[in-house]
Amino acid sequence: MPKKKKFARESCVTMTELVLPNDTNTLNNLMGGKLMHWMDIVSAIAAQKHSNRIVVTASADNISFGQGIQLGNVVTLKAQVTRAFNSSMEVHIVVTAEDIPAGRKFESNRAFFTFVAVDQSGRPIEVPELVPETEEEQELYDSALRRRQLRLILGKRMLPQDAKELKSLFDLPSDKK
Ligand SMILES: CC(C)(COP(=O)(O)OP(=O)(O)OC[C@H]1O[C@@H](n2cnc3c(N)ncnc32)[C@H](O)[C@@H]1OP(=O)(O)O)[C@@H](O)C(=O)NCCC(=O)NCCS
Repeated sequence: MPKKKKFARESCVTMTELVLPNDTNTLNNLMGGKLMHWMDIVSAIAAQKHSNRIVVTASADNISFGQGIQLGNVVTLKAQVTRAFNSSMEVHIVVTAEDIPAGRKFESNRAFFTFVAVDQSGRPIEVPELVPETEEEQELYDSALRRRQLRLILGKRMLPQDAKELKSLFDLPSDKK
């Protein structure tokens, strides 16, 4: 039977949070762990929307914190599935923070999380194919294969020599080696 197909946009989720005192460190900045918790939730919902299954977090790629998010800021997290593989899905999350009284808004973080759809016994189960429509969705879809290979190598689930897509990035014509 052919695999079911779903558009990337069908998985889009937006979550808005207000940074309250209990979410902050002693400098009144949002705690990194709290932000990661919200990122995990918003991206899990996106993966659920794509797969219509229970999902578990398999990995979270390099999250860096450039600029602190302050007490009272409004945080918006937007998540969308970039590509679906067999049972796993990569989700792209964009975080923006806004100081509404000051009229200031900035992008705080971007990250990729991977989720695996599982059955009631926790066994991985096949997910629908993802169809990108916009230019940005297509770019994220194409590059997802390289990111997948890199995280599987780092997770010791793939040998570097088997990562063909990733290898092609570094392959130079023999006269330039
Ligand atoms: C994620 C999990 C379901 C994978 O199960 P598994 O028995 O190793 O299954 P498989 O080897 O068949 O892999 C299943 C999928 O997971 C993906 N996967 C496994 N480990 C991964 C990792 N570290 N990063 C990204 N993807 C990973 C595989 O690539 C595979 O994807 P595919 O089906 O699209 O090709 C299992 O390890 C698990 O349940 N982990 C705990 C999840 C959890 O509790 N998370 C929340 C708290 S930390």
